[in-house]
Parts: sequence; structure tokens; C-alpha cells
Amino acid sequence: MKSDTKIQPNQTENQNDNFCRPDAVVGPLPKVLIACEYSATVREAFAAAGCDAWSCDILPSKIPGKHLQCDVRDILYDGWDAMIAFPPCTFITVTANRSFVNNPERWEQRLEAMKFVYDLLNAPIEFIALENPVGAISTWIRQPDQYIQPFFFGHPVSKKTGLWLKGLPLLKPTKIVEPEWITDKTAGKRYSPIHYKTSSTNRPEVALLRGKTFEGVAAAMAGQWAPLLFLNVVSPTPPALHR
Ligand SMILES: C[S@@+](CC[C@H](N)C(=O)[O-])C[C@H]1O[C@@H](n2cnc3c(N)ncnc32)[C@H](O)[C@@H]1O
Repeated sequence: MKSDTKIQPNQTENQNDNFCRPDAVVGPLPKVLIACEYSATVREAFAAAGCDAWSCDILPSKIPGKHLQCDVRDILYDGWDAMIAFPPCTFITVTANRSFVNNPERWEQRLEAMKFVYDLLNAPIEFIALENPVGAISTWIRQPDQYIQPFFFGHPVSKKTGLWLKGLPLLKPTKIVEPEWITDKTAGKRYSPIHYKTSSTNRPEVALLRGKTFEGVAAAMAGQWAPLLFLNVVSPTPPALHR
């Protein structure tokens, strides 16, 4: 990351910065951009794994820390080693499909959302993971490398989510649990509680709550991917011994 990266006034130093940093590491830490994250969940997980992790969102960070409050497209070329991205899914999920019939404005919004995803996936960053629920990215850009579920990572919630990966291995489940369901007898359908309770509202704060990354997923990403970043980005041995 270039030293002139825009620093916003609400940033503070993160106390966890060097926690878990491997002893043998010399040189700079992997610089990880957590794109489209206000909750700081993934940022804190990567910081705890020893990375120089920054979140970026047009919203302020929910908790103090290394946060860039700006349009993420303005900082994609700032020399990041890795990016984990959570772009908005409002106009690109399968559930949004039904509102596109005879709705040119909605199509414009989908095009714009898709261009945003395309820009993130094509950012000049060596290691990228982009997360999004099942939706149009698969047909408009490409299939995800894998689908994950919160219940693969200790949360009893079903939410099929794609991961589009560049340079990173598939995320392995860490704790598979049974998902919980609420059955709506009238509709004859079952729902995940988080979606059932919030499905009748499109309020922005509810949409944000639905989009917050699960802690178990964040821990798995940092636990499995940060060591790889240390191996590839940071010299694990003194430079003189390097081949
Ligand atoms: C689906 S939510 C992801 C939330 C994330 N998983 C978290 O735990 O904070 C999408 C986020 O993208 C942010 N966003 C939308 N457009 C953006 C942009 N151009 N640059 C940066 N962030 C953006 C929204 O404010 C929202 O917080």
C-alpha cells in the first residue's frame, strides 16, 4: 500500500496489530483490504492473525480501528497484498430477479452493481476473495469457486453464499452444525430465522444486519488465508538466506 493512502479522521491504531505474528517474520506485514465492510468483523480477524488489515466502506466503521471511509474503487490501486470483498447484493441476488420485469431503472441498478463486482474482481491485487449470495454474478461474470454456509462455521444459519477466489485456496469448514429453521405453515415453506424475521422490511439498517459477516466465517478466512499471505508476501527468513 502506498504511503499516501487516504487516511480518514476516524482512524485509530489497532492494539491487536501484531498479535499472532509469526516470530520468524521479517519485513512488512501483509496489507489486507477488507472491501465493503463497516462491521469490522473480518478486519479484526485478519488483524488478530497478524496482518495489517484495513476495512473500507462508505459508512463509518462500527468500532474504532483502521478504516477508510470512502468509495473502495478509489483505493484499489494502492498496493494491497490481498483483498476480501463483500459488495452489496441488493440488485444481484436471485431473490431480486422478480422485480426486473419491465423495470428499466432496476436494470440500470443491476448493471451498475455488476460493474462494481467486475471492478473488484479485476483489481490489481494478487490474492482476492469476493463474497456474495447466490445471484447473477454466476451468469454475468463467472461461477463462484465454492459455496459456503454459515452452518459450516459454527452458526446454525442457512445462507448459501458464493466465494469467488483469486490466488486463495477453498475455505474449509471449521465446525459443521445443524441449521435452524422456522416453518411457515400458511406458505408451506421453511425459512432461516434471520431471513424470516427480517424478510418483510427493506429498511437499510435491516439489510445491513442481514449482510454482516458471521464471526465463524471471518475467523476461518483469517485462520486459513493469513498464513498463506505471510508465506507469499512477507519473507519468513532473513533476506540473506532467501533463495
Ligand atoms: C452487503 S454489505 C457488507 C457488510 C459486511 N459484510 C460487514 O460485515 O460489514 C455491503 C457494504 O458495502 C458498502 N458499500 C457500498 N458501496 C460501496 C463503495 N462504493 N465503496 C465502499 N463500500 C461500499 C455498504 O455501505 C455496505 O456496508
